[in-house]
Amino acid sequence: MAIQQLAQPAVSSCQWTAQYSVNVARLDDQHKKLFEILGSLQQAMMARKGTDVISSIVSELANYTKTHFACEEGYLRMYGYPELEAHKKEHEIFVEKIRQFQNDLAKGQVTLSLNVFRFLVDWLKNHILGTDKKYVPFLQAKGVR
Ligand code: FEO
Repeated sequence: MAIQQLAQPAVSSCQWTAQYSVNVARLDDQHKKLFEILGSLQQAMMARKGTDVISSIVSELANYTKTHFACEEGYLRMYGYPELEAHKKEHEIFVEKIRQFQNDLAKGQVTLSLNVFRFLVDWLKNHILGTDKKYVPFLQAKGVR
């Protein structure tokens, strides 16, 4: 038991910190909300909640993710961001990943594994720190705050 626990890679924290800021208040607030939802998911998993609770949080994550992506893409479209299409493709892959996962949950085929959870958290962090951060100087130059 102790060996298994030691062998488990730690789940990274679901906390938004200033390093994730994209310097646009509305988008930062949305990113914070995504971290919050993932934090709820983590708590539900740790408390070994049932599939109904997990599914409901994953639905909230799916819906809010779409809301955020649409808003962010709206900013990038409005100001003519040259890398919008590549950015949108990354968003689509994540939305599809959550959708597949929701389908599996609905069919009772999977429980939310630590690996899936880790994927969601790592994807969000890497996406914000990599792809989202790329638009920061662009939007700043357009005067977006
Ligand atoms: Fe903040 Fe590109 O998602």
